[in-house]
Amino acid sequence: MRNLTDKVTFRHGATISTRTAQSPMLTNSGLDEKITQDTVDYYNMRSQSAGMVIVEYTSVSPNGGPSRSWAPNREQLAIYNDNFVPGFKKIAEGLKKDGNKAILQLVHSGREAQYRITLGGRVEVPSKIDFPWIDYPLHELTEEEVWDIVHDFGTATKRAIDSGFDGVEIHGANHYLLQEFFSSFSNVRNDFWGGNLEKRMNFAIEVAREVFRVVEEYAPKDFIVGYRISPEEVHGDNIGYTWHESQQLVNKLSTDFEFDYVHLSTNDYTATPIDSDKNYAQLLGKGVQKPALILIAGGIHTVEKMEDALNDVDIVSLGRPTLIDPQIAYKLKTGQADKIFLEFNEESVKKSHLTPGLIELLANTDYFAMPGIEYLKTLTNTKLDDVVTHDGTK
Ligand SMILES: Cc1cc2nc3c(=O)[nH]c(=O)nc-3n(C[C@H](O)[C@H](O)[C@H](O)COP(=O)(O)O)c2cc1C
Repeated sequence: MRNLTDKVTFRHGATISTRTAQSPMLTNSGLDEKITQDTVDYYNMRSQSAGMVIVEYTSVSPNGGPSRSWAPNREQLAIYNDNFVPGFKKIAEGLKKDGNKAILQLVHSGREAQYRITLGGRVEVPSKIDFPWIDYPLHELTEEEVWDIVHDFGTATKRAIDSGFDGVEIHGANHYLLQEFFSSFSNVRNDFWGGNLEKRMNFAIEVAREVFRVVEEYAPKDFIVGYRISPEEVHGDNIGYTWHESQQLVNKLSTDFEFDYVHLSTNDYTATPIDSDKNYAQLLGKGVQKPALILIAGGIHTVEKMEDALNDVDIVSLGRPTLIDPQIAYKLKTGQADKIFLEFNEESVKKSHLTPGLIELLANTDYFAMPGIEYLKTLTNTKLDDVVTHDGTK
């Protein structure tokens, strides 16, 4: 029987004080891909939000981002050179001041990095396919260029260590480059990086190998390494992979490497695939080799749901709830669970230090809708028509 306020110790010795994590969420606050005061204020306010806070997806390579952006000071963050380190030191320091662990999510955004074109770069993909929703040019990576990105994950890990983070999370979910390589829909290569399931796993495996190489050489012994994955990529007839394959991937990764955790990215933590009564946490959980722990995110928006999710996972991952209330873990630990804010309103927004870019994003994107979104709409003048959405359309 797991309780939300249990302490959890990862395999390499790091301990967190509740079974909660803050899911990685972009803050839309970068300027020239660097953190701004808005970014610092937001993370500074989240030192009590969860046992571990996973900082938003951060590009490891120049062409690994930015993805969505509709104004120059609303960019995705990056860590592809040493100039970015001072900014990340501020984030890590702010997050850790009350004992939380700070984890940095590392990404190459692949075909989603369309804003790179505006900045003079290119959009990189495993295979140059005529995706019907993409209206910008794509560059198919050569075998050698893929190795360069593998190494970028290593140098980014070193910079995360130098910035004072307690861990890194490899972003293998949500249709970014790692998932694109694993997906038979997006990867039709015929080389070391694609051709069959085994080869489609190679990019994830080599990135993991490189990250662990750097961690073993430079990080403290209890440094945390996680892997985030979307359990399935099924969009109607377009099937990138199913849970049968992702179960094999998490099995391989947690067998060959000492991952501290595997993090499932879903919209609904109770969801099941079409061919099983079991949910994704149960199915992928069978693949994950202990002592790696399992996290799941997706619709865990009340204390009852947090407790329910703990039937199948070790740690609950909370996204939007921590945007509304950045003191969830503190309130759980101090017996104030009934005082957790569950909607955006004048009182909660005053305390939550959302970045202006996040307010615009949340107020303009139905997909992210949360209780009280109408109140957020009163705080921004940005209208939906001005906003470039996730897939590049208006
Ligand atoms: C504003 C926003 C930004 C997000 N950015 C990221 C991100 O940077 N990396 C990531 O892996 N997932 C990202 N996600 C997905 C969340 O991590 C989480 O999986 C999702 O919101 C479901 O959890 P929830 O229902 O608790 O919000 C984002 C979600 C939101 C709402």
